[in-house]
Amino acid sequence: METKIDEIADGIFRLSTYVPNIAPPAGFTFNQFLVLGDEPLMFHTGLRKMFGLNRDALARIIAPERLRWIGYGHYEADECGAMNEWLAVAPNAQAAHGATGCLVSLNDFADRAPRVLADGEVIDLGGGKRVRFIDTPHTPHGWDAGVMYEESTRTLLCGDLFTQLGNGKALTDGDVVGPAIAAEDLFKYSALAPGMGGAIRRLAPLAPRTLALMHGPSFVGDGAAALSALADEYDRRVGDQLLTVGLRVAA
Ligand SMILES: [Fe+2]
Ligand SMILES: [Fe+2]
Repeated sequence: METKIDEIADGIFRLSTYVPNIAPPAGFTFNQFLVLGDEPLMFHTGLRKMFGLNRDALARIIAPERLRWIGYGHYEADECGAMNEWLAVAPNAQAAHGATGCLVSLNDFADRAPRVLADGEVIDLGGGKRVRFIDTPHTPHGWDAGVMYEESTRTLLCGDLFTQLGNGKALTDGDVVGPAIAAEDLFKYSALAPGMGGAIRRLAPLAPRTLALMHGPSFVGDGAAALSALADEYDRRVGDQLLTVGLRVAA
C-alpha cells in the first residue's frame, strides 16, 4: 500500500491510501487532510495499523512533531484509531472535538486532554486558516459526529458524508451524489436518523467550494447543491422508513 499526497485546496493536503480488498473490485480509499497554518491541523488520524504509512506521508509535507491540532468526524478506528500514536510523535498536538465526543470517548481515550469545541467554534490556525467545528449528531452515523469547515478556502472536511468506492483522481468536478447513494445502498452506513437530512442541509449555506471526502475524491464545484441533493435523498430514505414503521404499527 502507498499513501498519495495531493494539494486539494490552497494549503490543504489530502493523504490518500487505497485498499483494493475492501468492496472489490472497486476498492476503497482512506483519506486524511492536513490544513497548513502556523498551527497545522490534521483531520482524521487514519487507522492505527496504518499509522506508519501516514506518518511517513505527512513527513513529506511537514515534520510530524509540528502538528498542533487533530480533529476527526466521529469515534471510529479510521477516523481516530491512531490518535495516541500521533499525540506521541507530536508533543504539542491536542485532539479537538465536540462536547459529546469528548464526554463519551475522547476524554478517556486520548492520552492528553482534548480541547472541547462548541458547535460553531473556530480554531484559528494562523496563516489565514480558520477551521470551524459543526455538530452533525448521528449524521451520517455516531452520536458524536461533526464536520470541520476551513473558511479561507471554503473547504468542508466532510468525513463520511458522500462516501464512495474506487480510487479515482484526487479532485473531481463530477457527480458526487450518485456515487454516495450507491455506497449507501452497499454499506448501509448511515444512521437514517430523522434529523439527518436537516443536519446535512444546515451545511449548505456555507456554500463550500471543495468537499473533502474521507472515502473518495475531493469535489470542486457547487458544494451547496451537492449537500442539498444528499439531504433530499436522506429525507426520502428516512421518510420511507418511518412510513414503513407507521404502516406496521397501524396494521
Ligand atoms: Fe464512520
Ligand atoms: Fe470513515
